[in-house]
Amino acid sequence: MRNDAPANAAKCPAGWQEATRAVHGGPKPSSQSGVINPPVYRASTIVYETVDAYMDRHKGLYDDVIYGLYGTKTTFALAEAITELEQAAATVITSSGTSAIALTLSAFVSAGDHLLVADCIYGPTRKFLSDVLSGFGVEIEYFKPDIGGDIATLCRANTKLIYMETPGSQTFDLIDIPAVTKVARDKGILTAVDNTWATPLYFKPLHHGVDISIASATKYLSGHSDCLLGAMSAATDEIYRQLKDVAARWGNCASPDDCYLVQRGLRTLDARLERHQRTARVLVDWFAEQPEVTAIRYPAFVQDPGHAIWKRDFSGATGLFGVQLDGLNEAETRVFFDGLSIFQLGSSWGGFESLAVPAWPAPVRAFPNGERDGALIRIHAGLEAPGDLIADLDAAFGRVRSLRRSS
Ligand SMILES: Cc1ncc(COP(=O)(O)O)c(C=O)c1O
Repeated sequence: MRNDAPANAAKCPAGWQEATRAVHGGPKPSSQSGVINPPVYRASTIVYETVDAYMDRHKGLYDDVIYGLYGTKTTFALAEAITELEQAAATVITSSGTSAIALTLSAFVSAGDHLLVADCIYGPTRKFLSDVLSGFGVEIEYFKPDIGGDIATLCRANTKLIYMETPGSQTFDLIDIPAVTKVARDKGILTAVDNTWATPLYFKPLHHGVDISIASATKYLSGHSDCLLGAMSAATDEIYRQLKDVAARWGNCASPDDCYLVQRGLRTLDARLERHQRTARVLVDWFAEQPEVTAIRYPAFVQDPGHAIWKRDFSGATGLFGVQLDGLNEAETRVFFDGLSIFQLGSSWGGFESLAVPAWPAPVRAFPNGERDGALIRIHAGLEAPGDLIADLDAAFGRVRSLRRSS
């Protein structure tokens, strides 16, 4: 293929709704012998029929299969489907969410540049910035997630990128993305958002002025806790090419098998998210009635400080939220988690199963954020029956209460 649009540019009819895009996104079955899902093309070597084709092969980096490292038809098919959902110009698929973040961060900055970063980002992103990017001479400055249009006061002549995650990891802070991107666009600064929590079904960063939307496809897009993948969706073809170049230079490769699994996951994404959301709301309401609970971090919860922004910008909420308990000490934390029978202790959320982990945001924040930084229980509401999940949690609260009574 040789044309102006990248191979994975969106092709779904404009009028299609999200669920339809998720079910039918990507190449049509007629383009792959009627096979309903894009087949798995595994490859390293690609062969060429003529010397001219061989010598010209690098021109195909952005939209053709030229070497297995840069993607096969399976990779491009998934990229096309995610492009449809993000309503992007095109998408680069990477080996994990972490690599999508690292590649985005390194694609647009070099020594002497200034990078603005929201304080509520995913922990390993912070480590990439401190352990890798700052060593390359990039100046990194964190800002409070509620900064809004005041981001203007931090922008400098050498600010190249504003990096955000909304809602933020662990504390679930919501960022006023349109306010930030308005400033960034006026000043010619690029913006990127980690959109893993909402997925493109419930939030479309590019519609709010963002230049790059990042997903850990490991989470909801896959939905089955058995593969790792990331995606960088670009607002323009130029940004897409820059991202594709940097992914190629770093030798980042997405496994075609995992691309297949995520493509399959997309087919049920809308239905799964609806259920994750419904159960999360049931659990949140139940938590809100427990006397030990002091705060719930879930943007769809009316009392969450980010609720107004969520209502304005998002079309849904997913299954991950935080709960703070009045002075939960170490022994109580252990009895709470160790006796759970359905909830499992595990970090990588977005799968079919419910998870619960203790979390301590305070050590990984530049700005003290009061009680919002306190220890919390992070819950991922899976696809089990909500009543069974509540019984499991009720028993956990029972264990904490009896420990409190006995000490
Ligand atoms: C918000 C967020 N972004 C990115 C990642 C990283 O994704 P991956 O595990 O695919 O590297 C995670 C993983 O937990 C995450 O929670």
